[in-house]
Amino acid sequence: MRIDRRQFLAAPAAFAAAERQPVRVGIVGTGGRGTGLLRLLLRMEQVAVPALNDIRKEALARAAGFVTASGRPAPKLYTGEEDYRRLVARDDIDAVIIATPWEWHASMAVAAMRAGKYAGVEVPAAITLDECWELVRVHEETGVPCMMLENWSFLRPNLAVLKMIRAGLFGEIVHCHCAHSHNCLYWYFDPEGNPRWSGLHLARRNADQYPTHSLGPVLSWMDINCGDVFATLTSTATRSLGINHYFRKKFGPDHPAAKREWKQADIVTTVVRTARGNTIVINNDMQLPRPYDNRWMIQGTEGLYDEARSAVYLSGRSPQYEQWEPLAPYQEQYDHIWWRRMREDVPDIGHGGTDYLELKLFVDAVASRSPTPIDVYDSVTMSVIIPLSEQSIAAGSAPVACPDFTRGRWKTRKPVFALEG
Ligand SMILES: NC(=O)c1ccc[n+]([C@@H]2O[C@H](COP(=O)([O-])OP(=O)(O)OC[C@H]3O[C@@H](n4cnc5c(N)ncnc54)[C@H](O)[C@@H]3O)[C@@H](O)[C@H]2O)c1
Repeated sequence: MRIDRRQFLAAPAAFAAAERQPVRVGIVGTGGRGTGLLRLLLRMEQVAVPALNDIRKEALARAAGFVTASGRPAPKLYTGEEDYRRLVARDDIDAVIIATPWEWHASMAVAAMRAGKYAGVEVPAAITLDECWELVRVHEETGVPCMMLENWSFLRPNLAVLKMIRAGLFGEIVHCHCAHSHNCLYWYFDPEGNPRWSGLHLARRNADQYPTHSLGPVLSWMDINCGDVFATLTSTATRSLGINHYFRKKFGPDHPAAKREWKQADIVTTVVRTARGNTIVINNDMQLPRPYDNRWMIQGTEGLYDEARSAVYLSGRSPQYEQWEPLAPYQEQYDHIWWRRMREDVPDIGHGGTDYLELKLFVDAVASRSPTPIDVYDSVTMSVIIPLSEQSIAAGSAPVACPDFTRGRWKTRKPVFALEG
C-alpha cells in the first residue's frame, strides 16, 4: 500500500476512474458525527459499508438502519470497546472512518494503518505529543495514509482565498488570525448539566482543546510543512468562569456543574511563530454565550482577507484607498474546481456541502490508492496545539518549541493541497 511520489502525481488523472471504483468503509463511532458522515457516504454509489462499531447498541442499530434503508446489505455490527481491532482486521474493508471520543482517535487510527486500511479520523487526530509522533511513525512504517477529517480546510471561501494567495494577490504572507468561537456547552454537557465525555476533558485540562477548525485553512494558506513550519508558540488563558456561571444561572448554585472546578479557561489565545518569521494567532472560545465565529484573517505585503467582513483589501487594486471591498467577485473568479464541479445532486447538508466534498475526496483517494488531501503531517501539526498550549499555559505562557514532524523535509516539500493540476 506504500504510495510513492510518482503515484501521487498521477492522482488527478485517476480522479474520474476513482469515482467508479467501489470503496468499502467501516465506521468506528456512530454517534452524532459518525452517523452524519455515514449518511453522506451512503449518498456515494461507490461506497459499501460492510461493518460498524459503537459501544452503544442503540446508536449502532440506528446507523445500521440507514445502511439497509439505502438498499445496501446489513452491516456486521461490533459493540465492544476494543472491537475496532476486529473491524480493522476485516479483509472486506479498504478504509476506516473514526468518529469516537478524542482519547480513542490515535490508537484507532494506528490500528487502521497497521491493518493496511486508510484512516479517516475526526478532529483532533491526537491529544498528546506522544500520540502525534506515533501517528507519524506508523504512517511512515506502513505507508498507509492517515487523514484528519478537518472539514474547514475545504470550505468554499477558504479555497478561493488559497488560490488568491497562490496568485500573489496578498503579496508575501506574514500574519494570520483564526478562532474557534463557538458556544459548545450543548455538546460538552447533557441537558441536565452532566458532562459528556467531551465535557470531562474540560475538567482535566487547560489548553486549546479544539484547535483544528481554526487551523484547517491556515496550514495551506501559510505553506506549513511545505515551505515553512511551526517553530515556537506561547499560550495564555483567561479565568474559567463560563461553565460555572451558565449552570448557576440555569440550575442554581448547588448544581454540581455550577460548583465543580473546571480547569479549562474560557478563552485561550495562542501565538505561533513560524521558522520563516510569520505569526498566527489562534483563539479557543467555546464556553461563553456567543454566535459562531471563525475570524479568519490573513495578511501580506499587498493586502488582507477578513472573513468576518467577507471582504478583502488589496493595495493598488481595491478601488477605494484603504477601504474594504467584498470578497464576492473574487470568490467567483477564484472559485476552486472542487466546488465548481460539485454536481447538482450533491446534498447541501453538513456545513453547506463542505463535509460531503471532504469525504468524497477521501473516498476518491482510497479508490485510486493515492495520498489523502490532508496528510498525517498536517493532521498532527494541527492537533499538537493541544498539548503544547497546555504546556505553555502551565508554565505561565512560556514559549514552547513546536516539533517538526517532517524532520526537516518542510524545507523541500512542495505545496500539494488543493492544486488544480
Ligand atoms: N468536523 C466536525 O465538524 C465535527 C463535528 C462534530 C463532532 N466532531 C468530532 O467527531 C467526534 C465524535 O463526536 P460526536 O459529537 O459524534 O460524539 P458522540 O458522543 O455523539 O459520538 C461518539 C460515539 O463514539 C462511541 N464510542 C465511544 N467509545 C467507543 C469505542 N471504544 N469504540 C466504539 N465506539 C465508541 C460512543 O458510544 C458514541 O456513540 C469527536 O472527535 C468530535 O470532535 C467533528
